[in-house]
Parts: sequence; C-alpha cells; structure tokens
Amino acid sequence: MTQHQRLLIIDFGSQVTQLIARRLRELKIYCEIHPYQNVTDAFLADFAPQAIIFSGGPDSVTREGSPRPPASAFTLGVPILGICYGQQVMMQELGGLVESGHGTAEFGRAFVTPADKKLPLLEGWFSEGTEQVWMSHGDHVSRLAPGFEVYGTSPGAPFAITADVNRNFYAVQFHPEVHHTPRGAKLYENFVRLAGFTGDWTMASYKDDAIAKIRAQVGDKQVICGLSGGVDSSVAAVLIHEAIGDQLTCVFVDHGLMRLNEADEVVTMFRDHYNIPLIHADEADLFIGALEGVSDPEVKRKTIGKLFIDVFQREANKIEGAEFLAQGTLYPDVIESVSFSGGPSVTIKSHHNVGGLPEKMGLKLVEPLRELFKDEVRALGRELGLPESFIGRHPFPGPGLAIRCPGEITREKLEILRKADAVYIDQIRKHGLYDEIWQAFVAILPVRTVGVMGDGRTYDYACALRAVTSVDGMTADYYPFSHDFLGETATRIINEVKGINRVTYDITSKPPGTIEWE
Ligand code: XMP
Repeated sequence: MTQHQRLLIIDFGSQVTQLIARRLRELKIYCEIHPYQNVTDAFLADFAPQAIIFSGGPDSVTREGSPRPPASAFTLGVPILGICYGQQVMMQELGGLVESGHGTAEFGRAFVTPADKKLPLLEGWFSEGTEQVWMSHGDHVSRLAPGFEVYGTSPGAPFAITADVNRNFYAVQFHPEVHHTPRGAKLYENFVRLAGFTGDWTMASYKDDAIAKIRAQVGDKQVICGLSGGVDSSVAAVLIHEAIGDQLTCVFVDHGLMRLNEADEVVTMFRDHYNIPLIHADEADLFIGALEGVSDPEVKRKTIGKLFIDVFQREANKIEGAEFLAQGTLYPDVIESVSFSGGPSVTIKSHHNVGGLPEKMGLKLVEPLRELFKDEVRALGRELGLPESFIGRHPFPGPGLAIRCPGEITREKLEILRKADAVYIDQIRKHGLYDEIWQAFVAILPVRTVGVMGDGRTYDYACALRAVTSVDGMTADYYPFSHDFLGETATRIINEVKGINRVTYDITSKPPGTIEWE
C-alpha cells in the first residue's frame, strides 16, 4: 500500500478546525484531525507525522487543567504550526508566558505589519505592506518562549507571527484557515513546503489504497450496501465492487418518493452498466400507503425511517453469509469534535438517512469514504468513471418527495410534483445554471387556486420553486434567477403539467427558512 506523507492536526476545539484540513487537502496533503485528549505520546509515535498543527480552541491556557499537547510533540523533530490557542499553548509549554485580557482581546478583522526580518513561512505575504487576518482571541502571548522571534504584529497582538526557525516551530495568533484571512492558504502552502511535503495525496493513489484496504478487511465475505442513488452511496458501491466484485450486493429500497425516472436510472446504472448485484425493493405501495393522509412532517419522516429499516433488514436477511454493511459515511461525520459547551441542541428536523441502520443487524461496517470530504468523494467518483450526472447531483433528502409535498400526501400530488420538478430541473440545466445551484426543487402546495386557460376556468394546485446557494446546507440564500428565466419556467410548468395553474418563487434564506419546505 502506498505510504503517504502524513500531517497531524491536534484539535483543541476550535469551530474552524475542519477548515485547516480543507486547506491542506487542497494542497494534496494527507492529514488527520484528532482531539487533543487522544493524542498521547504513544499515539504520536505510532502516527509518525511529518508535521503537526495545533488548532485554535476556546479554552484559556492560563486555566489549570486546560488542554495540552503531549510533551513528545516538541521532541519529535518535526515542524509545528500553532494557531491561536495553539500558539499560546506552544509558548506556555516552551517557557513563554500567556496572559488573559488586559484590553488586548481581538475579534474579527485585523491587520498585521511585518517585522524587519525575512521568514520563509511568509513568502508571498506583505507585498502590499500589511496583511488582513482574522483574529479571535481573549488571551495573548506576553513573553515569547526562548528561541522564538517576532515576525509580525497587529494592534492587539504584538506577537501575531512568531517563529523559532532553528526548530521549525511557527506560531500565529490569527486563523489563516478562514476566508477572512485572504492569503492564509499561502501560509499553509509555505508551511508544508518547509516541512518537506510533496503533495502526494492524489485520488488515483487514494483509490488504489482504498481498494486494497477493503480487500484486506472483507476477505472472502459478503457485503451489503444500501444504495440511495445519491453521490456518497453510489461512489461507495462502485469502489467496493471494484475491490471485491460480486461479493457485494446492493439493496435499493425504493420508497416511491424519488424524482421522475430516478429509480429506473439507479437500477440501470448499477445493475446494467456496472453489473453490480442489486436488489430493487420496489415498495412504493407500502410507503405511500402508510403515508397517505399524513400531513405532519415529523410523522412523515418517522414513518419513512421505520419502514426503510424494516424493508432493508428483510432484504438483507436474504443475502446469505453477509457479514459486512457498507456505508457512505464521510469525514465530517466521523471527526470527533471537542465539545466544551455540552448540552443538546434543538432538533429542527429529525433527518432520516440511509446511514441510520440499527446496530442490532449485527454486521460489521465497511466505510471506505470515512477519510473524505464531499468534494473529494466527487473526485473519487470521477476517478472511478461514474458519469457526471451522478457525481454532480444536487443533494436529495432521504424522505424524498414526501417533504416537498407539504400537507397531506396523495398519489395524485406526487405525480404532479414529479412532472413539475422535471420541467424545472430541465430549465435549469438548459440555462447552464445547475452547477451554480446547491439544490433546486419544486414543492407542491396544499392549496388550489383559480386560473383561466383558453376560455375555461381552472382550479388547480399552486407550486413553489426553490433554488438555493450554499456551501454546506447549514445556511443558504435563494438563487437570483432572472425574471425572464422565472417567467419562462412558470409558463412551461403550467403548459406542460396538468394539475398546476400557479407558480411562485420562494425567496427565503436559511435561516430563517430551511431549504426544504418541511
Ligand atoms: P433543511 O431543510 O434542514 O435541509 O434546511 C438541509 C439539507 O438537508 C436535507 N434534508 C434532509 N436530508 N433527510 C435527509 O437525508 C432528511 O430528513 C432531510 N431533511 C432535509 C435537505 O435536502 C438539504 O440538503
């Protein structure tokens, strides 16, 4: 198996630690985030990083018992970059001093001025005098550890950029990983170059490694994979099939709430194109029967979730000798976050996913995407030859069209919704807008309105078009279609879809709205 150069990020609980990993992966550097509690001397020796980054964090190093890295981090002889809390803990541990408050807290944008000395870490910085950075600190370093010098200052942080060049230890008070530090990525690039990284983390090598790992894990046993038609489960299925061929059986629980022709496309793609053994559990009648007349969104989700598990288990039991369950779990789902705040957050929607299968199935998990971010999963999909129509797909919720049909679900409404949605997406594709939009869909509204077509009166459903931009689905804004586009789309929907006589455009952002209507 290929051995990648590895970088370790020790997480002290910053909200933005994941962004450090993003910046590094963009540089084709393999890195892992581990919470400080897990990073012992033994762990470090085993992980053998070529460089270490200390993340920021909400605690104060002046507090007794606050998080610390293991002592051996400083004696491994590898470069270290400390960020914010990471800088402070580095100073504290190496003989400097950190103090709280004293009116020098800085939150938000700040400008760093360079010192009169060159530092390879800062190559490409300060070409215009100062650099904008993003600060978020209450404590500050008030005395440097022996061996360190100052290379940049800001009004609230006299030690904004510090380094001990002999030991290759670098420490900054600001956050280079966030977009508000416009040239932060360059700083990471310089750091990994100084640490001798060559950028050997490519999708082609990842694919070969992942295949070897799956073979080693599974041996000659049978694997079941729940396929939803979404990017994650599709990529996982094709990858595992490439590794172990017909030892993989996919189960596609078709709840009858997919978009127009989608179920057929999934079956054709995986069964006919990839020759993957596929069980198509066509249970539209079961699901829609149970949902008919249900209007409460949470009851819809719970009903679908429960039936999904029942059907999946029933089908999985038919596969003799199955010992493994494959899931498309991604890296953001597995990073153990360092939580200081505790306390449950409010449930807005109880998301139902194909991932939530019960442990009692007694199967071991195969999760070949555990190390990847979403865009890396897409890159892997391309590497595996999956068509762009699958890879670039907008997210689609587990409960499908059920939550795009506010109020009571009926077969008639689902049928109308499917057709309207297909016209809308066709319009978006024709205008070349699909890839600019995070998610777009139609919701059929539980109201009928009066219209006039030809010389006759109509009394049909109204629908709402939704299209949003987003980076992660957590916040979103509506997509600013042109009026021409909206007008043309409304005309097409009303002309082509019997049952709809009024089209509206939803211009709510998230928050306060959510992306889906339910
Ligand atoms: P909301 O509507 O919460 O959606 O703003 C955020 C993202 O999550 C998707 N979504 C779901 N996905 N099961 C899922 O698997 C669900 O129950 C569910 N509800 C919303 C939604 O499509 C968007 O991408």
